[in-house]
Amino acid sequence: MNTIVVAYDRLRTIGRHNRLPWQGILPADMAHFKTITDGQPVVMGRRTFDSLPEQYRPLPNRQNIVLSLSHTAIDGALVVHSLKDAYEASRGDAYVIGGAQIYEQALSTADRIIATEIDTETMGGDAFFPPIDTDEWGEADRISFEADELNKFAYSFVTYLRRQR
Ligand SMILES: NC(=O)c1ccc[n+]([C@@H]2O[C@H](COP(=O)([O-])OP(=O)(O)OC[C@H]3O[C@@H](n4cnc5c(N)ncnc54)[C@H](OP(=O)(O)O)[C@@H]3O)[C@@H](O)[C@H]2O)c1
Repeated sequence: MNTIVVAYDRLRTIGRHNRLPWQGILPADMAHFKTITDGQPVVMGRRTFDSLPEQYRPLPNRQNIVLSLSHTAIDGALVVHSLKDAYEASRGDAYVIGGAQIYEQALSTADRIIATEIDTETMGGDAFFPPIDTDEWGEADRISFEADELNKFAYSFVTYLRRQR
């Protein structure tokens, strides 16, 4: 099963200036991401790998697979040149973790989307997640949280499963 893991806001924004718009102000999402991907192969675009804070690059305790056409080697990661190669290289089910270019290419072959839906509208976002077509995807689970002293926005953890093809 190929899984997409993503966090987006009401405008479907996922990034701004090659970083997460809610970096540092939504730690619950970071913790959720770690729980889901811990010990799993993670597949990401080269720009997302570059965007990771230095202390989390490569992401610890995960097989880091980076898609790139411009690089042949990256410290701590396996570089591949196509999504197909990324899936073949994965030691176990692949978790596709972004960014926009990679989500766009992975969506048609993914079986599951684990989304954090963030109740805000980022100004000036420049990376987006595609709309989820409800003919193709069914909502299987949703758990919602209010903003609190640590997490600036309300948010929901939502699982979408691909409907039978
Ligand atoms: N909110 C979230 O859940 C989330 C998650 C991840 C990332 N993000 C955000 O998303 C943004 C980055 O997304 P992005 O779309 O700019 O970049 P990206 O998808 O992370 O990476 C794009 C790069 O991947 C490589 N690539 C793309 N398609 C490829 C293919 N078919 N084969 C081989 N290599 C391929 C190319 O690398 P080369 O240029 O090296 O050839 C390309 O420049 C950032 O703002 C980041 O913070 C958000």
